[in-house]
Amino acid sequence: MVVPPDRVAPVDGPGIFISFEGGDGVGKSTQARLLGAWLGEVTGRDVVQTREPGGTPLGQVLRDAVLHGDHVDPRAEALMYAADRAHHVATLVRPALERGAVVVTDRYLDSSVAYQGAGRELAPDEVERISLWATRGLLPDVTVLLDADPVLAAERRASVEGKGALDRLESVGAEFATRVREAFLDRATAEPDRWVVVDATGTVDDVQSQVRVDVAARLGLGADQVARGRGNVS
Ligand code: TYD
Repeated sequence: MVVPPDRVAPVDGPGIFISFEGGDGVGKSTQARLLGAWLGEVTGRDVVQTREPGGTPLGQVLRDAVLHGDHVDPRAEALMYAADRAHHVATLVRPALERGAVVVTDRYLDSSVAYQGAGRELAPDEVERISLWATRGLLPDVTVLLDADPVLAAERRASVEGKGALDRLESVGAEFATRVREAFLDRATAEPDRWVVVDATGTVDDVQSQVRVDVAARLGLGADQVARGRGNVS
């Protein structure tokens, strides 16, 4: 990925920025919440748990419009996710990182590249550039990909949540979901320093244990720090 230097505004503060990515129904929200709580314990930092789209009041409006509104043109849709992200980063994520917090977000820029890019009408690199512009180049320290076969994930969602109305993207089907999965896996392979890939098909506790091991290694947390957070996983 090429980011023009004048577009990059990295956070200088000592915060830790983690994103969770994956297809619909792979358990991102639960795993993100558990990791955030654990990182708070082991690092002693404040933890900010958030999500995209919809991590801010304006983001909630955009989330409702993009997920539950009328059909949105693909370019408009990409810009709505980017607008949500720009506001989220400027008003919540970056200030939290600047005061040294751990920020754990359920989805970030890679969701736009995977989902909007997988729709075939938009080029993934263009979608990425829009988000990099929107966020002034802010990338997570670690991105956790919870990987699962989308058909298994859909079955799990149906049985666990007894879910009724599917949102627009969820209803598009298995072929789209498979392209999204492949896009995430390709990005993880292309940028191994940022990504950890965890098999999401195990129990909540098993998946969380693996997420903790991989994130701790990536953040360079010492064994003494990690031991402080040992306890029940969920
Ligand atoms: P999310 O609330 O994470 O739903 P789930 O828990 O089912 O995964 O995301 C809502 C939907 O928004 C999801 O189908 C993916 C989509 N999405 C995009 O298409 N582009 C984006 O940039 C983001 C952040 C989400």
